[in-house]
Amino acid sequence: MSAVIVVHGGVMAKPEELDQAFLDGVKAAACDGFEVLKRGGSPLDAVEAAVRAMEDNSVFNAGHGAVLNAEGEVEMDALIMDGKTLSSGAVCSVTDIANPVSLARAVMEKTDHVILTSRGATQFAESIGITTVPTGSLVTECERKKWKKHKSYATVLNEEYNTQWAHDTVGAVAVDSVGNVACATSTGGIRNKMAGRVGDAPIIGCGGYADNISGAVACTGHGESILKVTLARRILLHVEQGKSVAESSQLALQYMADRVHGAGGCVVVSPSGQWAATITTKRMVWAAVDHDGLWYGLDPNERFNEQLTL
Ligand code: GLY
Repeated sequence: MSAVIVVHGGVMAKPEELDQAFLDGVKAAACDGFEVLKRGGSPLDAVEAAVRAMEDNSVFNAGHGAVLNAEGEVEMDALIMDGKTLSSGAVCSVTDIANPVSLARAVMEKTDHVILTSRGATQFAESIGITTVPTGSLVTECERKKWKKHKSYATVLNEEYNTQWAHDTVGAVAVDSVGNVACATSTGGIRNKMAGRVGDAPIIGCGGYADNISGAVACTGHGESILKVTLARRILLHVEQGKSVAESSQLALQYMADRVHGAGGCVVVSPSGQWAATITTKRMVWAAVDHDGLWYGLDPNERFNEQLTL
């Protein structure tokens, strides 16, 4: 079996002038992650590399480019999970870390805990030599303008989220040639969220999950809805019952739509190398690399393929 990586750059509701930048960004992230697998790196290394690439790319709502909360500040969440051991690490509400996914990995590997939040996460980062960045340096001019414009909306979590634009979490899932899986997520959350609000992205079983028995999932979409239905775990439950990763994703996303009126998307990979990128929102930017090259898309049912020299 050949290794596979699938990444997403978040869901969105309508075409944007930045569509090409989103597509270029996810394609580059998927290729970065696949390079790691090709060189013999683990799926954990691959998903971390892919998510770091999107955190460093200011078109995405993660790391540099994260959206602002109601107080005009960045607060980011991230998760990483190893399907071999079920070990995971996460950070919530971090303000001054350029690559929250790497801090999440350090929580997993260097502490006795699973989740660290805000000040404690920053203190831990400093204690292990992860450099913090000045407050505000992760904020783009474009986000500052959008924040000012959208501040007038009172109901950001429903009307605007569903009908205007939203590209929230970035995420990645990977499987190596012997069936080890991993997932990672990273996000600035939802613009104008309350200070201290934590979404689905850093919560295992909700924003992501990885288990060598069934597969790895990274979700995107309305965090409160994803939390209510434990979306990532729900998808893998269907896989455990024998359904394909595509059908499992569709069933769980539809359940979230029917049960709590929530929209979202996900990327999933199975230990045997099956993969899917599925949405109930209008759009989600995603890319994958498998033995047939680079795949990518943005609109529903879109699947473009480019050959790579693998
Ligand atoms: N899905 C990311 C969030 O709601 O924070």
